[in-house]
Amino acid sequence: MKPRENWGSRLGFLMATAGSAIGLGSLWKFPYVTGENGGGLFVLAYLVFTVVIGVPIFAAELMIGRTAQKAPVGAFLALSGVKKSWRFIGWLCALVTLLILSYYVVVAGWALNYALMSLLNFSAGKTPDQVAETFDILYKSGSINMLWSFLFLGLTTAIVFRGIRHGIEFWAKILTPALFIILILLFCYSLTLDGFPQAFSFIFKPDLTKLKPSGLLQALGLACFTLSVGMGILVTYGSYMQKSEDIPKTAFTVAGMDILVSLLASLMIFPIIFTFDFVPEQGPGLLFKTMPVLFDKLPGTLILSTTFFLLVVFAALTSTISVLEVLVATVTESFGWSRPKGTLIISGLVFIISIPSALSGSSGIFKAWPEMYGKTFFDTIDYFSTTWLLPIIAVLTALFAGWIVDRAITKEGFLEGSKWVWIFRPWLFLVRWVVPAGVVLIMLQQGGVIDLDAIVQRFTWAN
Ligand code: PFF
Repeated sequence: MKPRENWGSRLGFLMATAGSAIGLGSLWKFPYVTGENGGGLFVLAYLVFTVVIGVPIFAAELMIGRTAQKAPVGAFLALSGVKKSWRFIGWLCALVTLLILSYYVVVAGWALNYALMSLLNFSAGKTPDQVAETFDILYKSGSINMLWSFLFLGLTTAIVFRGIRHGIEFWAKILTPALFIILILLFCYSLTLDGFPQAFSFIFKPDLTKLKPSGLLQALGLACFTLSVGMGILVTYGSYMQKSEDIPKTAFTVAGMDILVSLLASLMIFPIIFTFDFVPEQGPGLLFKTMPVLFDKLPGTLILSTTFFLLVVFAALTSTISVLEVLVATVTESFGWSRPKGTLIISGLVFIISIPSALSGSSGIFKAWPEMYGKTFFDTIDYFSTTWLLPIIAVLTALFAGWIVDRAITKEGFLEGSKWVWIFRPWLFLVRWVVPAGVVLIMLQQGGVIDLDAIVQRFTWAN
């Protein structure tokens, strides 16, 4: 049997892992959700949840992968001892990554499309409304959506096809630093805008009146999503990790980088919003509808806009390669396929599954879907996978690491290569109790089983 591939260098591993975490979650979701939740306190909650919930699950996944030396399906089976049924978590990871990838490539395709449109100076001579409407035209054009998601998936496939060192690691070492450089340049640009001080206090000044308890739960969900936990990505990346690598340190470093990018992205976007008197509660359209309108008002539109959308493409690409790798590693291990065969078959499958999402806006397929289910096909897959499957897998992973894996194995797997021996106990406490309680609370709120806002309000009145 061929020896398992592993990362060639510590830097490469770190860049690949950070690249996976830093994605559309940090650049697109974080700013608009922060805007909707009044800034300040929400950001603080996000930081706290990243440290006490996201980081422990992140470390648990790395521990599982490195100890088992396998992708999720094999890893959960290998460490489940006599409780073999826990291996279904591995299959859930495979399912959720397939679903997430199928719509994420459509959004990433939009970014690729906007990079080209920006290069062609598409906003020149258009009114702001016309610029914003371009997104609606794109959204409704099924064939153009399919073309871009196909191209984006092609890029992802080409990288994963080349394997760990020559594909994922090589490109992560280029794309992740490039992303940081572009982000810092754009951030410096925002620093010069009149709206910067207002944006700064919006993001960092806690205002107790603006955050609802349900917003706290949203912060928790976002902390998990932006760190890439609950998909088996870190199990897979952990399986290529050297024994000399430090798991808790890696978890904190990547979380730090992820937080930095989320904050920089907000500090780049909000000054523009305040400078031009837009409202921060714009919602998901912020990135594709508003940004080009804003860029159009600034000097250097072509360069600014193209660079910005390239940043989004890079961020999405380092995330999609990590998701595709989960699936490719799974089929190569479980069915004995070669990497090229596995990559091509899985990518073909992802493309087929992505078609209904790409055609979602044009109603080219499943026309009656929105009428029947109240959401477009695209939104249904997004909602089902990120609101339900991700938290369920995250909680099961924490329970698995905390209660199912033999404690001696967990301890050794977690601490090998690390000098922070003291951290094991607090981590175990978090994965056993705090993570499950926190995540179950999000799911109950999201599922409408409890209404935290009403509970807190009743409690405050009673006093
Ligand atoms: N942490 C990633 C992000 O913030 O975008 C999560 C992710 C989602 C990774 C979807 C990959 C992916 F395909």
